[in-house]
Amino acid sequence: MDLYFNAYILKMQWSKKHIISIKDFSRAEIDFVLEKSARMEGLLASGKSTKLMSDKILATLFFEPSTRTKMSFEAAMLRLGGRVIGFSGVSDTSIEKGETMLDTVRMAAGYADMIVMRHPVEGSSRLASENVDVPVINGGDGANQHPTQTLLDLYTIKKQFGKIDGMNICMVGDLKYGRTIHSLVDALKMYDVELRFISPQNLKIPAYMTKELKKSKIKFEEREDLNVQGCDIVYVQRIQRERFPDPQEYEKVKDCYVVDLGVADMMKENAIIMHALPRVTEIKHEVDETKNAKYFQQARNGVPVRMAVLCLVSGVDF
Ligand code: NCD
Repeated sequence: MDLYFNAYILKMQWSKKHIISIKDFSRAEIDFVLEKSARMEGLLASGKSTKLMSDKILATLFFEPSTRTKMSFEAAMLRLGGRVIGFSGVSDTSIEKGETMLDTVRMAAGYADMIVMRHPVEGSSRLASENVDVPVINGGDGANQHPTQTLLDLYTIKKQFGKIDGMNICMVGDLKYGRTIHSLVDALKMYDVELRFISPQNLKIPAYMTKELKKSKIKFEEREDLNVQGCDIVYVQRIQRERFPDPQEYEKVKDCYVVDLGVADMMKENAIIMHALPRVTEIKHEVDETKNAKYFQQARNGVPVRMAVLCLVSGVDF
């Protein structure tokens, strides 16, 4: 009875909720989505998901480039039997004529049942969500948050290890501007994990985040050398060239870490390498064939997770 009641309450909390920051969700709510994602993966495999969204339209508003987030949301919606409208890049929209982001989002809310948006300015999705009636899903706002990436990252971890608690997770690269890192750390604070942050001095994880980790009593260490020994997960983050105010600063750090076969050898036998992708030079292609490389599977997991998320925000039962 209690279990049934809890599931009911969680579903009610999810219904019509915007997904802006992973911080807006409790651990119970996150775990609930992970369970629903597993269920959705089963429905997807058996071909039973194709009518869940047959009367719905998703708008994808990508003011900033995207391959995976945009395509996996589109694939998710199509696999649910729904339809998709939207744009990628503002060059063929009225933003070129001076229309504001908010007016553009308001228009989309009149044409679609849900919106996924990505924008270079931090806080843009929050602002959008406060001005429309349909659910808004943040597909990345500047260096701030990328909550559905975090859900698929956690899903990947859980699928691999059967749990998230107890994991020793190392994050490597641009920890200052990487929104996937910021979202993931915000979520992992709710679990019993140990973290290791590896970055150059000028790309360290923001101080306010380490403060929050201390408050949450999460064990962590910060270092500069690429020592991944003892970790269960090595999460690599691209150096976010587009966020550097000074291109020369980017040039100095762009190749600071390269995960190659030597680094993979240093890892625990069953440790995995994750990356939100796109990768540039930070993981050598030779690593792709190792059993540790899980980043392509991670990207594929985006489809069932985003299918579950789309159903949950629009109150579709499955
Ligand atoms: C990430 C992003 O856009 O934040 N990519 C993604 O969504 N899969 C990471 C990145 O661009 O480095």
